[in-house]
Amino acid sequence: MSVASYAILVFLALARYNAEITNSTSNCMESGCSDDKQCRDGNNEDCNDETSLDCQCKSNYTRGLIVTCYDAFSEKAKHVYSVPIAQNGTPIPDPIWYHRFDTDVHTLRVDVDNIQQKAYIYHSTVKSIYKNPNYNLGNSTENLWTVLSKGISSGVVSLAVDWVSHNIYWTDPTFKWIMVQSLSSTDTSMFRVLIQENLYRPHALALDPSDALLFWSDIGRFTTIEVSSLSGRNRKTIVISNLLRTNGLTADHQGHRLYFADTERDTVETVTYDGTDRKILLAKARSSLIDVAVYQDSLYVADMGALYVINKTNGNAFSMEIGEDDFGYAGVAVFHEEAQPVTDRCQDYGCAHICLTELGGATCICKDGYNLNEDNKTCSLISTYFHRALVFSNASSICILDITVLADFVFDPVCVLETTGTKYMAMDTDQRNVFIANDTAIYWTSVDNRNLQLLAQLSGSISGMSWDGYDRNVYWTESDTGKIWRTSIESKTAHVFLEGLAKPRDVLILPHHRLVYWISERNGSTIESSNINGSQQHIVLQYNDSLKWTSLSYNPYRNRLYFLGILEDEERTDIINCNLDGSNRASNNAMYRILNTLEIYKGYTMVTSYEDELTTITFHSLDDIDYMTEGECTDAGAISVIKVFDENNRQNETEDGKTCMSGICCI
Ligand SMILES: *[C@@H]1O[C@H](CO)[C@@H](O)[C@H](O)[C@H]1NC(C)=O
Ligand SMILES: *[C@@H]1O[C@H](CO)[C@@H](O)[C@H](O)[C@H]1NC(C)=O
Ligand SMILES: *[C@@H]1O[C@H](CO)[C@@H](O)[C@H](O)[C@H]1NC(C)=O
Ligand SMILES: *[C@@H]1O[C@H](CO)[C@@H](O)[C@H](O)[C@H]1NC(C)=O
Ligand SMILES: *[C@@H]1O[C@H](CO)[C@@H](O)[C@H](O)[C@H]1NC(C)=O
Ligand SMILES: *[C@@H]1O[C@H](CO)[C@@H](O)[C@H](O)[C@H]1NC(C)=O
Ligand SMILES: *[C@@H]1O[C@H](CO)[C@@H](O)[C@H](O)[C@H]1NC(C)=O
Ligand SMILES: *[C@@H]1O[C@H](CO)[C@@H](O)[C@H](O)[C@H]1NC(C)=O
Ligand SMILES: *[C@@H]1O[C@H](CO)[C@@H](O)[C@H](O)[C@H]1NC(C)=O
Ligand SMILES: *[C@@H]1O[C@H](CO)[C@@H](O)[C@H](O)[C@H]1NC(C)=O
Ligand SMILES: *[C@@H]1O[C@H](CO)[C@@H](O)[C@H](O)[C@H]1NC(C)=O
Repeated sequence: MSVASYAILVFLALARYNAEITNSTSNCMESGCSDDKQCRDGNNEDCNDETSLDCQCKSNYTRGLIVTCYDAFSEKAKHVYSVPIAQNGTPIPDPIWYHRFDTDVHTLRVDVDNIQQKAYIYHSTVKSIYKNPNYNLGNSTENLWTVLSKGISSGVVSLAVDWVSHNIYWTDPTFKWIMVQSLSSTDTSMFRVLIQENLYRPHALALDPSDALLFWSDIGRFTTIEVSSLSGRNRKTIVISNLLRTNGLTADHQGHRLYFADTERDTVETVTYDGTDRKILLAKARSSLIDVAVYQDSLYVADMGALYVINKTNGNAFSMEIGEDDFGYAGVAVFHEEAQPVTDRCQDYGCAHICLTELGGATCICKDGYNLNEDNKTCSLISTYFHRALVFSNASSICILDITVLADFVFDPVCVLETTGTKYMAMDTDQRNVFIANDTAIYWTSVDNRNLQLLAQLSGSISGMSWDGYDRNVYWTESDTGKIWRTSIESKTAHVFLEGLAKPRDVLILPHHRLVYWISERNGSTIESSNINGSQQHIVLQYNDSLKWTSLSYNPYRNRLYFLGILEDEERTDIINCNLDGSNRASNNAMYRILNTLEIYKGYTMVTSYEDELTTITFHSLDDIDYMTEGECTDAGAISVIKVFDENNRQNETEDGKTCMSGICCI
């Protein structure tokens, strides 16, 4: 990837547009007009008396900026402003319209379907995307916002609308995926995870509907900008160096250039669609450049303290202020009614669920939980349950929760199987099977027919179970017999894999590493390992810390082992992690309660504890974003196992969670 030479094109002489709203307490203004005078004498009509809340203004401006602002004092962003712009993109900051949100929520990113005149806004407080079905620059009473999609996390979520085929795409840095939802359907479940492999923390997102391209930034050990088709195919990394926190991204479909804002580099830069000819357009120390939008000659940049307008041809820039002095800006998008020369290939394509534009064609995809049929257009239900579920077992049942509890805890389980005394579970997401062990035997079932069948009788006291998705074997440990066993659905014959072990438990298979791990009880807990053929059995980690180690798990995002270290006397549990060879041991999140289960999903730990008839589920982030939720379940009893079943998540652990290019792995 060649990165073009850097050139600071512009040093800014920032002129200040005086665009503050006068009469800021006016009811009339708040409900839609910049001020009464503007309403009566300007290009408007229908303005009622000065104090009326029903005051309506109609604008003859057909293009403008939509800007989300927040109040620096309350840190709440709940203001959405419209600023008309002239045909060449220059703002005409008088009048400015204000669109009221009733809810006291953070409004962040915004984008527009200009053809259908619909606007979409992401709210971080309510973790939802809202839509306005009839966005009008100057008529706030028409600006009725309703929820389009819920269960989004509260990180730097960006959204972009494909205004040709009417789909909305968004990034979710918490769940580490890019989602797409059809806007042609009134069914709000018409969404699907489009990309989630090798994504670390996708932040900014932009698309070019005419070229059918999707661009995003992924923030990690190395931040990258990637491109794919609108259906997620032909993925490539186009910018790989000198990026830190690329939070804003926009695609100029006329100039075939990307413009991006990097909050940590304090720059706004541009590259061509293939990542070449990189230039810095704005360098502003101590800024917080967060979002960018482009229209004709102009680039609009939302910063914490200002909205910049940059002439992308000659680099001239000025800042403008909207609303009140101390407002910060969170999102910016351009609203216009330009005739778009692009034909919608999805129009008559006949997709049953979601139609995505491809260059020279279209592709049908199905919403989550459905598979595309052989006609490539219609969809069949895979199963009503188990798509992206948090699966837990208690003394009587196996129940599932939507995985979005990770972002917003709502304990609303559906119990899908009656089982008694489940002690361990393992998931085969490829073939959609679940393995369940209790004190007597191991059973398996397809998640679709949920018909429990015997897989193996136990000869001792089961102390752990793991699934090898590569060789399709189930492994389990028996602490009293000192054995590790394995079997498969196909053979149904159990074989001793290793024996003579010191109270083994928590067997863990890393299929692609061809390694087996388990915890043993020698003088204190140890972590031991062997090859998948049983050779090279050795102690990986021995540490005299008098903690009882349990719940051995693997985190592909860091290529490390995670386990719980319990100190019963002090009612304390540490979450401990180390490299696969036992080195670099670290302990975090010491919790003053006894945890009983640990599961890792997308780099988060999920742990449960049970006290006073109450189960608590806690999610921790394993990296630097300070993210954590916790929820209490009053009617679950003691949870014995917690697992994630994600039909789309087939992470290849050898890749360390990220694409490796020329020897550089970008986490
Ligand atoms: C709006 O501001 C103008 C000029 O500052 C003032 O003359 C007018 O009375 C104000 N109107 C209201 C409704 O406050
Ligand atoms: C809006 O309409 C008024 C009156 O017709 C006209 O004077 C003004 O120039 C128009 N503004 C724009 C931006 O077209
Ligand atoms: C503003 O929107 C409302 C509700 O959609 C509509 O009834 C009204 O006519 C619009 N006002 C103008 C001036 O267009
Ligand atoms: C931007 O700069 C170019 C080149 O100087 C100029 O022709 C154009 O009018 C400018 N655009 C605006 C919106 O000021
Ligand atoms: C569906 O798509 C597959 C893969 O692209 C292709 O091989 C197959 O021919 C298509 N089937 C139909 C009916 O178009
Ligand atoms: C194990 O599960 C099977 C099937 O649900 C059940 O018949 C059996 O009683 C269970 N054993 C124990 C010890 O709970
Ligand atoms: C525990 O330590 C003693 C003394 O160091 C040793 O003899 C014994 O073998 C150890 N036990 C195990 C299970 O490793
Ligand atoms: C742990 O280490 C301490 C001192 O190093 C020693 O006194 C103690 O016996 C050890 N405990 C075990 C269980 O080996
Ligand atoms: C077991 O696997 C290791 C590593 O893959 C290999 O080096 C060794 O030769 C194998 N041993 C046997 C007996 O197959
Ligand atoms: C297991 O959890 C489900 C769902 O919360 C609950 O209805 C059921 O009563 C629990 N079983 C026990 C034995 O607590
Ligand atoms: C995962 O990695 C292994 C080992 O490098 C490779 O053989 C396998 O094909 C990979 N699987 C996928 C789905 O990429």
